[in-house]
Amino acid sequence: MMLKQQVALVTGGSNGIGAATVRLLAEQGATVVVGYHQGRDRAEALINTLPGTGHLALQVPLEDFAAHTHIAQELTQRLGQLNILVNSAGYTRRIPHGDLEALSPEFFTQMLSANAGGTYSLTRALVPLLKASGQGLVVNVSSVAAFTGSGSNIAYCAAKAAIDTVTLSLARVLGPEVRLLSVSPASVDTGFVEGRSRAEIEKKALQSPLGRVVTPEDVARAVLACATHLKTATGTRIVIDGGATL
Ligand SMILES: NC(=O)c1ccc[n+]([C@@H]2O[C@H](COP(=O)([O-])OP(=O)(O)OC[C@H]3O[C@@H](n4cnc5c(N)ncnc54)[C@H](OP(=O)(O)O)[C@@H]3O)[C@@H](O)[C@H]2O)c1
Repeated sequence: MMLKQQVALVTGGSNGIGAATVRLLAEQGATVVVGYHQGRDRAEALINTLPGTGHLALQVPLEDFAAHTHIAQELTQRLGQLNILVNSAGYTRRIPHGDLEALSPEFFTQMLSANAGGTYSLTRALVPLLKASGQGLVVNVSSVAAFTGSGSNIAYCAAKAAIDTVTLSLARVLGPEVRLLSVSPASVDTGFVEGRSRAEIEKKALQSPLGRVVTPEDVARAVLACATHLKTATGTRIVIDGGATL
């Protein structure tokens, strides 16, 4: 129970990597706010399975920057503190990198604005609460796409690179009260990329040095380690890819 009396908000907590992270944080004693977008029922069902009390579900839409200020106010009123923010929310669409016709500038901007701008906006709104905790932590669930330039589409890769850069910059200015880390997985077996099959993920993973598919729990354990053990790490990235990018 290494996170007793700590409060964590996990965006994208209603599914995939976020949901696995919610479970591990709650198992360590944290009170968890499960951020969802469309999946309110999933978020509430998850909360019903968690150990401990006081967990709550909250809609946290990436694109609604004004809502982020209200979310900070709501957390202050309802829980009075925030120690950990895990930014796992995100979305994408599969567009072959060579198909520039299909990747419109409008979609490019939308990807950047939601995935990187939304993550920044929420973090910005929650910095005062995180600072007040004295030992705040922000973990951004990024991707190997940020530094390989290879992923579901070019704009998604650029958005994740932006998130990594913001992690560096904010880590420099927000210490010692707040640490920021990126956790960067390779392909994880969730429904994140529509039309991507398990066989496709397995084929890629088999070519990596560790030869196995990265699971949501693998990523969640890395996020947990950021909170429980990596106390002198800030402004860096933890790659969870079985060595695929070596
Ligand atoms: N899966 C992979 O292969 C992989 C690899 C590298 C990095 N990642 C990163 O890992 C993170 C989590 O992905 P995942 O694999 O867990 O995917 P997932 O299972 O599809 O979960 C995505 C989560 O993000 C939320 N979300 C989607 N659009 C949103 C929006 N506009 N505003 C707020 N929340 C939104 C969803 O909420 P609702 O379900 O409630 O609508 C859901 O909880 C993402 O940031 C992704 O870029 C994934």
